[in-house]
Amino acid sequence: MDLLKELESLVPELERGLDQASSLTELEELRVAFLGRKGRLAQIMGRLPELSPEDRPRLGQAANGVKMALTERFEGRKTALEAASEAAALSRFDPTLPGRAPWRGSLHPDTLVMEEICSVFRGLGYDIVTGPEVEMDHYNFEALNMPAEHPARDMQDTLYVTESILMRTHTSPLQVRTMLARKPPVAIIAPGKVYRRDSDITHTPMFHQIEGLMVDKGVSMADLRGTLTSFLRTVFGGDTRVRFRPSFFPFTEPSAEVDISCCICGGKGHVGNEPCRVCKTTGWVEILGCGMVDPAVFTAVGYDPEEYTGFAFGLGVERVAMLKYGIGDLRMFFENDVRFLSQFR
Ligand code: DAH
Repeated sequence: MDLLKELESLVPELERGLDQASSLTELEELRVAFLGRKGRLAQIMGRLPELSPEDRPRLGQAANGVKMALTERFEGRKTALEAASEAAALSRFDPTLPGRAPWRGSLHPDTLVMEEICSVFRGLGYDIVTGPEVEMDHYNFEALNMPAEHPARDMQDTLYVTESILMRTHTSPLQVRTMLARKPPVAIIAPGKVYRRDSDITHTPMFHQIEGLMVDKGVSMADLRGTLTSFLRTVFGGDTRVRFRPSFFPFTEPSAEVDISCCICGGKGHVGNEPCRVCKTTGWVEILGCGMVDPAVFTAVGYDPEEYTGFAFGLGVERVAMLKYGIGDLRMFFENDVRFLSQFR
């Protein structure tokens, strides 16, 4: 029976083909040629009707055996080829290459500035304190020498929660909270979020401030000047010039605003031939408010203003970060764009 012989010859023929196949693609071509829908085996089966009815079952049985043998040879070779290609890939693996570093987060510029400033003052012996963002009118205004109807309250657009509870408009209530809780000497630094009903290109409804307070016997304006000058030179560089301008705050007397020489143009007022946009060619930028604690504030917290004196200051964190890192747009701080944020390490 020719057909039977032909059938049986398929196995050695496939074996020869498999021996020569060197890739999984060639292997697949062989599989289609022998076992595919129009392959060699299928063609032989297609000729089954040529046989006499007695011969047909024998051929059918033989065909099943051949099919199993073909499949087995094929799978065996496939496993071997796959193992070989895996081994080849492994031999290309170079264990001396530096790994892919996992993505690392970075600190927000606000956080970096707050941490830096806090660490400068921690080095001077100050304690870091924090307090509630939802604050009582009494601590935010009243005890800071701004009674109801005081015109100074107009300086700040307040977000009220109830008539007597508000979102703190500055970190100065921490002065009150600290002095109520501690006896002098007091030296604290208070970083945190503050809120105002302000929203435009240079104002955001929430921003960050740092408050400082130092109270003891015999604290003078000279201590204020020395402390702030040394602090500003640590943060902005040793050759930064610092000047104090008379100003007004209800909770300090006398009060001053402090300017530093512009760190963008180096105080020259222009960058190359261009006028400096940060200091508007003046060579100075305002950096903080400060003053000697007003006796009325001491009285409100039960300190004797005849016995103690002190100084206080407050500054905007975003402002410091903008000057320090040359950031031109306040909105960048709040957009959470990782491309921006990841630049600060
Ligand atoms: N609280 C003031 C503000 O938000 C900043 C300030 C000025 C704080 C003078 C002080 C100070 O402690 O002495 O504008």
